[in-house]
Amino acid sequence: MRIAVIGGTGKEGRGLVLRLAALGDDEVLIGSRQAEKARATAEEMNRRLGRVAVTGLENREAARAADLVFLCVPYVAHEETLRAIAPELRGKILVDTTVPLDPQNPLRLKRRSERSAAEEARALLNDAAAVVAAFQNVSAVALQNLHHAVECDILVCGDDPAAKDLVIGLIRRLGMRAFDAGPLEMARAVEAITPLLLSLNRRYGSRRAGIRITGVEEDPTPSTR
Ligand SMILES: NC(=O)c1ccc[n+]([C@@H]2O[C@H](COP(=O)([O-])OP(=O)(O)OC[C@H]3O[C@@H](n4cnc5c(N)ncnc54)[C@H](OP(=O)(O)O)[C@@H]3O)[C@@H](O)[C@H]2O)c1
Repeated sequence: MRIAVIGGTGKEGRGLVLRLAALGDDEVLIGSRQAEKARATAEEMNRRLGRVAVTGLENREAARAADLVFLCVPYVAHEETLRAIAPELRGKILVDTTVPLDPQNPLRLKRRSERSAAEEARALLNDAAAVVAAFQNVSAVALQNLHHAVECDILVCGDDPAAKDLVIGLIRRLGMRAFDAGPLEMARAVEAITPLLLSLNRRYGSRRAGIRITGVEEDPTPSTR
């Protein structure tokens, strides 16, 4: 599979790129507004990985070449970025990691609507792509540190069961626990956990607070759900 990480030059995107490329199962593409920045980041990631596993492209080119597309840009850039890549997402899966944090105060949410960023993405794409929400609660610091397993669980929301199963399977291949957290609408609740985690980071002097689900077991075969 070819996986593009739009905003793969940033903190969360780099973490996902490193984890995906370290796994070695898929081709990994970094997307950026500037092709040169994408190429430079891909070179840096390849140096960190010790082999050539990542390619850098302009956002739309990366989305065009991919089967699965991660979106990892700040909420202020969410709509504009989606509009730029929308023509390339038809029939594909978009994994939205966006948390609509208030740029003035990241301990608060500030949404354009009552919906989650992922639901806004689905509306903007007119249901042309299957939107899955995931990774909103996973710190970039934890993702980027390949020497440590990611010690938090991933809540996966979406309305397309096959797309959600594929993403849950991918997360599990990355060595993380993934739970089906229900329909895309549930991303409203998942997004709202992130300011809480950021506040815990601040209070306890950490940069990688995360969540763990207890009392339920991961189902081994998501496709039979
Ligand atoms: N950082 C975390 O720990 C974390 C954890 C969970 C979820 N998230 C979510 O992941 C997303 C990305 O977070 P991040 O911390 O990785 O962000 P970031 O490093 O600030 O930005 C990511 C990339 O987005 C593009 N970008 C930044 N500002 C933009 C703008 N005004 N217009 C268009 N593109 C812009 C840039 O790529 P180019 O310049 O290359 O185009 C940048 O490298 C956010 O929605 C965040 O809520 C982050």
